[in-house]
Amino acid sequence: MATQAPHAVVTGLQWGDEGKGKIVDWLTESYDLVVRYNGGANAGHSVVIGDRRYALHLVPCGILRPGVLNLVANGVVLDPEQILREIAELEAGGLPVGERLKISDRAHLVLPYHKRADGLMEAAVAALAGEASQVGTTGRGIGPCYADKAQRTTAVRVADLYQPEALRRQLAHIAGVKNATLGALAGLSGQTFEPIDPAALHATLLSIGEQLRPYVADTAAIIRDAMAEGRRVLFEGGNGSLLDVDHGTYPYVTSSSTTALGIHAGAGVPAARLGRVVGIVKAYTTRVGAGPCPTEQVNAIGEHLRERGHEYGTTTGRPRRCGWLDLVALRHSAQLSGATELSIMLLDVLAGLETLQICTAYRLDGRLLDGFPASAAELERVEPVYETVPGFAEEVTAVRAYDQLPAAARAYVERIEALAGVRVSMVSVGPERSQTLVR
Ligand code: GDP
Ligand code: IMO
Ligand code: MG
Repeated sequence: MATQAPHAVVTGLQWGDEGKGKIVDWLTESYDLVVRYNGGANAGHSVVIGDRRYALHLVPCGILRPGVLNLVANGVVLDPEQILREIAELEAGGLPVGERLKISDRAHLVLPYHKRADGLMEAAVAALAGEASQVGTTGRGIGPCYADKAQRTTAVRVADLYQPEALRRQLAHIAGVKNATLGALAGLSGQTFEPIDPAALHATLLSIGEQLRPYVADTAAIIRDAMAEGRRVLFEGGNGSLLDVDHGTYPYVTSSSTTALGIHAGAGVPAARLGRVVGIVKAYTTRVGAGPCPTEQVNAIGEHLRERGHEYGTTTGRPRRCGWLDLVALRHSAQLSGATELSIMLLDVLAGLETLQICTAYRLDGRLLDGFPASAAELERVEPVYETVPGFAEEVTAVRAYDQLPAAARAYVERIEALAGVRVSMVSVGPERSQTLVR
């Protein structure tokens, strides 16, 4: 009988970029497999090891630890050119990928027309209703690819690359449908769409299939076998909980299940198998793209956070919107994923602020709200209720033990813990591995 292997989840509890990559890298020392289960190249996970910084989009962060097997599971939308580029970059940098990466044969492919469709939809919405109606996507083709997944007849999966005749027929109708629909969509914003040539796409996809072949596998079966053998599996969430297509600030979200809830379908793992759920929390709030962000500070505080935190996107380079920590949103996402512990990230960025504010409730039209609003329009209108706590002046990047943090920094962490009702197990005071304080 297999032993009960302790498996873990790393999931961002805000709007992304919480520092998931750093903690996946940190924890992976104790795990055998790292599995990405949602999203695609919209994710940008930046990991610093010594004097090197790695920016990973599709390859799980476990690739940075020798001996760890990395899986891109079925729930991911795979941009094949992007993942091949990442593999080549890792290998050129002296990190062999080879047998340490497996890609699900059931994952859907993001193709060039998905990225084009992403931009065309944003442009069409802006032309018809103004820029405020745009989602502000990363332009990585995520929404259009998941839409095709749900549509079925217009989708291409990894396994299709190895059925050349069926793929030829599939591409003939996909080209017909896309050329008509994307041509019309382009017209709405005064653009044109270069029609897809199905024969050329067929040749490209067969070549991509050969390049991907060494990595392709039934990843759900690998996870099942690994768990049965008592190996430890870590699930790496992409994007953040508030970008979840069901539970986030819809429609200003991404198109996948970003919380730990997405693991079961996105990796083919039964619910009972997950024990440790590490919620990653930036010590303040950031958001890229459009949509409500109640605690956003469009002022000197926001500037302080952006400049000290280098808050510019890993994927698109866009400046991130910055603000105070939002405990209403955090409680919502911690509950969805069943967070068993929290890791508070980028605490060092707060140094130098005289006082810190924590949003503990939302007020709307003079009354306090229960729970997290479903409507983005309502969330746009809420007024955050803040609790003010003392800040800390000292830099904390050189601190190596929790007890050595300034008293006000510890009090801030412990207040978050009390308000969230979830234990804080780690505090991060810089991007490097050594800047991780375990409590
Ligand atoms: P992810 O998408 O959740 O993996 O996060 P990103 O990598 O997009 O963004 C987090 C950024 O913060 C990266 O540049 C990290 O190197 C950096 N980072 C992580 N933890 C800390 C920290 O404690 N302090 C500081 N200053 N930077 C950190
Ligand atoms: P990581 O994994 C921050 C945001 C986009 C946009 C919305 C929809 O690095 O935390 P999409 O391209 O997914 O259709 O864009 O979601 N977004 C992210 N923001 N970090 C991410 O990933 C994100 N992935 C998507 O900015 O607002
Ligand atoms: Mg990121």
